[in-house]
Amino acid sequence: MTKPNSFDRFKETFDIEDPAFAEQFEDVLEHLVSACPVAHSAVGAGYHVFNRYQDVRRCAADWRTFSSTDGWLLNPPAGNLPILPEDLDPPYHTAWRRVLNPFFSPEAVDNLEASARRYAGELVERFAARGWCEYVAEFAAQLPGLILFHHIIPVPVDDLPTLFHDIDQYAFGPVAERAAAFGQVHTYLEQLLIARRDAPARHDLVDVLLAGVERDSAPCSWEDKVHTTLDVVFGGLATTTHAIAGALYELATKPVVRQEVLRDMKCLATAVEETVRLHAPVVAVGRTARADVEVGGVAIKTGDRVALNFAAASRDPDMCERPRTFDVHREEVVHSAFGIGPHRCLGEHLARLEIRIAIEEFLRRIPEFALEPGTQPRYESGQLRTMKQLRLCWLV
Ligand code: HEM
Repeated sequence: MTKPNSFDRFKETFDIEDPAFAEQFEDVLEHLVSACPVAHSAVGAGYHVFNRYQDVRRCAADWRTFSSTDGWLLNPPAGNLPILPEDLDPPYHTAWRRVLNPFFSPEAVDNLEASARRYAGELVERFAARGWCEYVAEFAAQLPGLILFHHIIPVPVDDLPTLFHDIDQYAFGPVAERAAAFGQVHTYLEQLLIARRDAPARHDLVDVLLAGVERDSAPCSWEDKVHTTLDVVFGGLATTTHAIAGALYELATKPVVRQEVLRDMKCLATAVEETVRLHAPVVAVGRTARADVEVGGVAIKTGDRVALNFAAASRDPDMCERPRTFDVHREEVVHSAFGIGPHRCLGEHLARLEIRIAIEEFLRRIPEFALEPGTQPRYESGQLRTMKQLRLCWLV
């Protein structure tokens, strides 16, 4: 008789918010992808979990069979409201992406590089002489917001602390309080849109959000404009924070790689991809089957909820040799950390820019550093996975 694996229980209880999963993240994902291509979690209303890269790829691309309109959350809190375009299907989804994409294209993101570098340099200068830092609070949680709220959705600087707090509560706070936190961010952004509606046009993303798009040949609702603004804001913060912190964790624990990424642009670019592959903030997203279909030998019925386990798929040994290794010499990094298909991340180029600049500006000033002795990163899992603490000290 084969001995049960200690991770077997996650086949029936896979839940991003489970503290045991958060603690044994890598082991659980590797077990699922190797031993259980399609699991079924009984948590909440229950959902199938697709773990292999090819299955995730196929289902993420096939929006007709796997619809987003019932929402991306596997276990939504009571009173949950949609975020758009995440919780839409084409053609309405496509209409929104068409107007949003230009603000996040590689060219648009290139224009943000000088500012991003300046913010990153200033943040590192604040702690460089001290010899140590708590990298998440002092850098990783700051940079994405500085870029988003200064350059993409401008908001008054004094409002940022409260806005950050509410956004964090929505993703990671107690489940019962998440809908209220969402409501606060909703109110804030709605007020911002109202103020901008009555102000002269600036021809920026906020004007595009205010203009909206057509839904069924009629102008979309005001609510949809607010919920699209919410998606851009929620999408761009904790996700990139986690990846930036993940990159610095890898470099803190791998002295040879630090030298390589500074010397070789190709290693640096691969380090960014390896970071998002291994430090996936968007662990898994929900879809609803709109047809009877078979995936990985398992029958999925119309109406079943499914989870696309992006984090597991990025560690699929069929796609990636030595999946646990952070390898800056891979010829090609295959991963699903930014999603696949129509919902592929709107902000992927911006996220890559922020991770790369975070690495460059830190290493330029602090080439030799390590985890503070006796510490390990602290993670939190809610609707996303994020790093909450990373203590670094310089080596002299
Ligand atoms: C390392 C950082 C990031 C990661 C790993 C990430 C990951 C993802 C993933 C996996 C999806 C697809 C969800 C699905 O298929 O249902 C997604 C969608 C999205 N992301 Fe990101 N994201 C990151 C950064 C950003 C940034 C910087 C922004 C914007 C400022 C952003 C905005 C969005 C939006 C609006 C969507 C919804 C797109 C749609 O439904 O068409 N993300 N992201």
